[in-house]
Amino acid sequence: MSIAIYPGSFDPITLGHLDIIERAAACFDKVLVCVMVNCDKKQPMFTSEKRLELIQKSIAHIPNAEAENFSGLLADYARQKGANILIKGVRNVTDFDMEMQMARINRGIEPTLETVLLPASAEFEHFSSTMAREMIRYHQPLEKYVPAAVAEELMKGRD
Ligand code: PNS
Repeated sequence: MSIAIYPGSFDPITLGHLDIIERAAACFDKVLVCVMVNCDKKQPMFTSEKRLELIQKSIAHIPNAEAENFSGLLADYARQKGANILIKGVRNVTDFDMEMQMARINRGIEPTLETVLLPASAEFEHFSSTMAREMIRYHQPLEKYVPAAVAEELMKGRD
């Protein structure tokens, strides 16, 4: 069985992330979305539990996708899961440079770990969790940026 891991901080999950998960699920038997810690990023807007809950709601329609939290090394998580494929979405050259580095680091830790880069769909090329957080902060409509289940949940807390 081919198991692919899609790791990220998902603070929060966006429509761009969901697009990558759906496309990866069409390529591999199972996709494990893993909510991880990115040490280079400051305090997240959402707790890891909340980020996981939002992902689980967003991927409920994908039968071969699951989500979990993991706070350790990605290579250790992959070993635990018996997975040797990492999925990363790439929007631009900045992402590409970063992902090339991370792919090499991960393969340096675990030589069997391959990274598969999926180009972002054109309509989501400018999407990011940073942008979604700005829309949340400034009370903008969210449906265009995050999965419907997330928009609904986050709008509940508003006046
Ligand atoms: O969505 P992000 O913040 O770009 O995802 C980055 C993430 C979480 C995938 C990366 O920081 C990561 O893999 N963190 C886990 C710790 C680890 O394994 N680091 C070494 C690989 S670079």
